[in-house]
Amino acid sequence: MAALQANPRPLKALTIGRRRPSPSLNPTRLRCSASGKSAERSYSVTLLPGDGIGPEVVAVAKDVLSLAGINFQFKEMPIGGSALDAVGVPLPDETLDTAKSSDAVLLGAIGGYKWDKNEKHLKPETGLLQIRAGLGVFANLRPAAVLPQLVDASTLKKEVAEGVDLMVVRELTGGIYFGKPRGFGTNDNNEDIGFNTEVYSVSEIDRIARVAFEVARKRNGKLCSVDKANVLEASMLWRKRVTILASEYPDVELTHMYVDNAAMQLIRDPKQFDTIVTNNIFGDILSDEASMLTGSIGMLPSASIGASGPGLFEPIHGSAPDIAGQDKANPLATVLSVAMLLKYGLGEESAATRIEAAVIETLNRGFRTGDIFSSGTTLVGCKRMGEEVLKCVDLQKPAAVLTL
Ligand SMILES: NC(=O)c1ccc[n+]([C@@H]2O[C@H](COP(=O)([O-])OP(=O)(O)OC[C@H]3O[C@@H](n4cnc5c(N)ncnc54)[C@H](O)[C@@H]3O)[C@@H](O)[C@H]2O)c1
Repeated sequence: MAALQANPRPLKALTIGRRRPSPSLNPTRLRCSASGKSAERSYSVTLLPGDGIGPEVVAVAKDVLSLAGINFQFKEMPIGGSALDAVGVPLPDETLDTAKSSDAVLLGAIGGYKWDKNEKHLKPETGLLQIRAGLGVFANLRPAAVLPQLVDASTLKKEVAEGVDLMVVRELTGGIYFGKPRGFGTNDNNEDIGFNTEVYSVSEIDRIARVAFEVARKRNGKLCSVDKANVLEASMLWRKRVTILASEYPDVELTHMYVDNAAMQLIRDPKQFDTIVTNNIFGDILSDEASMLTGSIGMLPSASIGASGPGLFEPIHGSAPDIAGQDKANPLATVLSVAMLLKYGLGEESAATRIEAAVIETLNRGFRTGDIFSSGTTLVGCKRMGEEVLKCVDLQKPAAVLTL
């Protein structure tokens, strides 16, 4: 049971499905493809609809998952504001226990005006941090692909945005956000200071680097490690370890880039990137920058994976209280999160590909929610968009369309 594959039960047979041939693969890790008839396998999925548009988009994604040709048992549990209202805490113990004992977790979104003034431990967002910590998910995968149908949604020039298809692999549980010492104090001049510590151990670097190498070899075999090794000791160790590990992945072409240059290159020439791996703080910033290349927050999925146990899959958008309950939400980010759940969480690659293909076909047929609408297309609501995706889930003809 390993990161990215995270398949909590032994499958009858596992084969690694890749785009590029690779001489050395560790079959116990990452995105193994399950072989055999999908319908024979069965998984439990914890659904955490959350707040705002969360329940609307999760309902659509659940229907799509049900059509993936695999047996699922769903269990819906409260998190965020809805859990606060129901039981007074943002992450009830039962929710975490259920999530931990399932094969994968699908989250909608949390948060809303109603709870904005709550104390920190009673904020919906605290529930989100708690479930990430509780599941031990240390690798955050955020794809950013500019779909040809939506190229005009990008703020970049068409010729720059067209064909962008990259993945940011961000370390999620270490670095300066968690490093100690941290706090407030005074300096020698008796001036108030705030301080934090950027710290990474070899094991923390190695495990995120391995995830990234595996992701890269499943994509187009290019990995760019982003650091600040010209200034920071933690980055110097990062670069050293990533370079050492590269010898285990001869099929992956490794490059290094300083973070300031990476921020610039993402805008100047984003097509040069395939897979990016970086630490927590650089990944926080670069993954947001990369996602905005696509210009459509309602289209972007994410996956968070641990060393063992279920992964957490969620759209990158929030609960969108401004449109909640109005059937205006774009459910496609959550549907694509389901594709990541299948691919990275369960190793069910062909089922994932069918769902990705269905999303593309729905867009090809011209259906658009308000956030991605343009003249000449058909404006639909969240439910109708879901119905159109369901119509396009063709169980017989998987076709590779995205490299999520
Ligand atoms: N992972 C999460 O659950 C998560 C992430 C970010 C924000 N939040 C929370 O969500 C609440 C709202 O935050 P925000 O407004 O900054 O961000 P948001 O992502 O909820 O909304 C930003 C804008 O994008 C639009 N939007 C978002 N998702 C959409 C979709 N699927 N379809 C169509 N339009 C969509 C919204 O209508 C809004 O105009 C806050 O309480 C925040 O804490 C939760």
